[in-house]
Amino acid sequence: LNYHVPRTRREILEILLKGLLRLEYRGYDSANARSIQLIKQSGKVKALDDELTKQQDMDMDVEFDVHLGIAHTRWATHGAPSPVNSHPQRSDKSNEFIVIHNGIITNYKDLQKFLESKGYEFESETDTETIAKLVKYMYDNRESEDLSFATLVERVTQQLEGAFVLVFKSVHYPGEAVGTRRGGPLLIGVKSDHKLSTDHIPILYRSCKLLGNCSLSNQSRQLFGECFFLGKWELTTSLTWIHCCPGSAVIEHTNRVIFLEDDDVAAVTAGRLTIHRIKRTAGDHPARAIQTLQMELQQIMKGNYSSFMQKEIFEQPESVVNTMRGRVNFNDNTVTLGGLKDHIKEIQRCRRLILIACGTSYHAGVATRQVLEELTELPVMVELASDFLDRNTPVFRDDVCFFISQSGETADSLMALRYCKERGALTVGVTNTVGSSISRETDCGVHINAGPEIGVASTKAYTSQFVALIMFALLMCDDRISMQPRRCEIIQGLRVLPDLIKEVLGLDDEIQRLAAELYQQKSVLIMGRGYHYATCLEGALKIKEITYMHSEGILAGELKHGPLALVDKLMPVIMIIMRDHTYTKCQNALQQVVARAGRPIVICDKDDYETAKSSSRTIKVPHCVDCLQGILSVIPLQLLSFHLAVLRGFDVDCPRNLAKSVTVE
Ligand code: G6P
Repeated sequence: LNYHVPRTRREILEILLKGLLRLEYRGYDSANARSIQLIKQSGKVKALDDELTKQQDMDMDVEFDVHLGIAHTRWATHGAPSPVNSHPQRSDKSNEFIVIHNGIITNYKDLQKFLESKGYEFESETDTETIAKLVKYMYDNRESEDLSFATLVERVTQQLEGAFVLVFKSVHYPGEAVGTRRGGPLLIGVKSDHKLSTDHIPILYRSCKLLGNCSLSNQSRQLFGECFFLGKWELTTSLTWIHCCPGSAVIEHTNRVIFLEDDDVAAVTAGRLTIHRIKRTAGDHPARAIQTLQMELQQIMKGNYSSFMQKEIFEQPESVVNTMRGRVNFNDNTVTLGGLKDHIKEIQRCRRLILIACGTSYHAGVATRQVLEELTELPVMVELASDFLDRNTPVFRDDVCFFISQSGETADSLMALRYCKERGALTVGVTNTVGSSISRETDCGVHINAGPEIGVASTKAYTSQFVALIMFALLMCDDRISMQPRRCEIIQGLRVLPDLIKEVLGLDDEIQRLAAELYQQKSVLIMGRGYHYATCLEGALKIKEITYMHSEGILAGELKHGPLALVDKLMPVIMIIMRDHTYTKCQNALQQVVARAGRPIVICDKDDYETAKSSSRTIKVPHCVDCLQGILSVIPLQLLSFHLAVLRGFDVDCPRNLAKSVTVE
């Protein structure tokens, strides 16, 4: 919303479309923008752009002093991706109130029933439409004529259950936008040609009755040039810099941002921003800071790569270094984790560790469980956040619960975090996202510093989570004399890891050739055990996510209990066989597959000629210390899934039906 600098309709739409494009990887079932009229399209942002160019009746060069546009990409929760279900949703045919929404309204059916009884007719299948209709209902039934937009929105949100980030616009409040959040992220970028006269915005508290206008003193009103509301953002650190990644939809306009808290209601009227809350509660900070983001735009560009995923796979030699930078000292074999230093003694005294996560982040927990058990001598549980909650898992005060999450915003993990906090456990975040909900709500944590990850299929975040958890395990036993030889072995393994990753990436051409042989197959089985079971799960997930082939990660120890029935001479089988304590057992599995006419492709140590004899093909990776070998064995599968997806003609960065960060349960 701009007060001073006029913008044409064309410029406003360009800003919105560019912003949507930068956010597209977060969910892209349908896209939509509003300037004067609603323009909706299902599919990707490009489809919306094409639709906009068809809008002959809009004068693109008309200028607005005070201008406001809202745009949205949707990841469908209620209702199929279609123009009518895309956002903004509206109160009625004349668009009196419109709203965009990320999240889920869990009581929308009750609200819908109530509104239908009042004569409202619903046009979409979305939960969001109830919000648009409810705001109109509350406006039409207001007690006082001078009800402010912010107060109205606040009253609407009182009726909503679930998680939401909302931005509203109304013909009754021209030139005004109101945004609010509960359980999802909302950021406001502020842009001014003048130096901002303040570094914070005071909160305006209302009476408990929730009625009437808030009275604003001149002091508390701040004048800005332009404000940008942005949901679906994540922040990522790299070294000591804060990088804003989907904030990139804003960063090209301004690097000054405000992070809203749950239940803040922010209103922008003619360039003036105010932030409201109902009442002040103990511990509330009475202002929101205006923070400066620093980021290099090229970090979010693809560079010479064909996709972000490919770029991120090839960044791994550097991203693991960034995870270790300033933390692992290879000369004296010490590990320092600043984010844990005040709590490490308490963690060392705990009775068990519980690692909780979803998707790829869960696999990072599976991958490091064994070494955590070995070095901490504690029982370690690894849990999928949704299942952990479904089971009402018992959690105790002397448990330490880890929340591993690239985005730090995954709703299932966040709910599990709140569940564990309520039960008095110490909570630790392992995220790639400074300022994310998980990093803010945990007691302490480790940022993995992998840099922005844009590809929906996670790659470099996985290897950095892996390294971060290994560093934690090393820290837990740093004063245990008996553990020192093992600690030194692992730390020296970490030292050579970036070079070994580079060597594995050198297999790219060979893996591309393998992909050319496999890409028309329907299914791929991936088998391994011990340290490499997680690699099987993660490799199969990568293949499912971006190639849409069926793929299954199979624990080789379970092969004879069922999956062996799938094996014949046609079924593609990949086996991971490394020289560690499971080597002999893996050889047995290999023989079982070969005996059923299977023709396994084996990922093995580069000098393992024995294994090569029974394989139809080998992918030879360099050897490193056993507990780190999983980082090297997963990279060929990342590359394989990438090449399979390209050969099958799919969009690698934006797989159908998926979103980078799932902020709904
Ligand atoms: C989504 C993504 C996955 C990711 C998972 C957990 O499903 O598509 O790639 O692994 O969420 O995300 P998190 O940000 O919590 O690591």
